[in-house]
Amino acid sequence: MLTFTPLPGRFGASVTGLDLRTPISDAEFSALRVAFDEHAVLVLRGQPIDDAQQIAFASRFGMLERTRLGAQGQGSELTILTNIGPDGAVVPPSHRQWINTLANQLWHSDSSFKPIPALASMLSGRIVPANGGETEFIDMRMVWNALPDAWKAEIDGLVAIHNLAHSRAQVDPTHMTAQERAGVPPVRQPMVRTLPSGARCLYIGSHVEAIEGMAQQAARALLERLLAFAEQPAHVYTHAWQPHDLLIWDNRSTLHRGRPFDPVQPRCLVRATVAGDAPLLEQAPVALEAHRARELVMQ
Ligand code: OGA
Ligand code: MN
Repeated sequence: MLTFTPLPGRFGASVTGLDLRTPISDAEFSALRVAFDEHAVLVLRGQPIDDAQQIAFASRFGMLERTRLGAQGQGSELTILTNIGPDGAVVPPSHRQWINTLANQLWHSDSSFKPIPALASMLSGRIVPANGGETEFIDMRMVWNALPDAWKAEIDGLVAIHNLAHSRAQVDPTHMTAQERAGVPPVRQPMVRTLPSGARCLYIGSHVEAIEGMAQQAARALLERLLAFAEQPAHVYTHAWQPHDLLIWDNRSTLHRGRPFDPVQPRCLVRATVAGDAPLLEQAPVALEAHRARELVMQ
């Protein structure tokens, strides 16, 4: 029987009674979709699925994103987060594959750097380290509700500029080629999102490069203050991986990050990402250069 049990923290639920190696019924999917909206993070243990089964299941939630240029799994419907090289050995920390692992250790929402950001992500633990390498989540609905009223007034209506090149440059400024950067130009996103349920969420993360109309120093200070508030332990769920866990999370209402682990230990996770259905704000023209020029004028 399909059962949802709240996780030990203040959000998220553990799901039992499904075997994702076979198609699930419409009734089961409906219950799962409702639970996804409510709990924001769903944990399904003991799901030894393969790539095709993961794609089939994830597709029930909507169109899947295609993996971007420069990422592992490029052009397919799966993103492979692994430190295992083509020869089967763990790659050294200097390897390009590590950059994505390190960048994922910064709080973020998947694809917030795209004009239509992701709805959901589904991450399957294929090979997980014995210790470390957890994935953590923040419920940003809870964060919004807990923010002091003065802070809410300060940020409501602000527009953030999200840029993948910015978050990757924090780990390695040489990581992305010019061609890769050109494929993911900066986009505008509201700093506060309203979900169909009416819930409001703070919407920030490592891809945020700037805030429209705000000097860079003030924007960085505001973002740091908001993130420090958001990542208080009361708002965080830490997932310690077991092999064959499947996590489903709502990218509209959560931030997540990977935690460090011993780099000699193999770790391989496979993600399917469900696209959202519309841009949150008008995008054209998303000219960060123009934005920078405007900021210079304003300073
Ligand atoms: C992801 C991600 C973090 C991790 O799959 O989108 O950010 O723990 N993963 O690997
Ligand atoms: Mn991610």
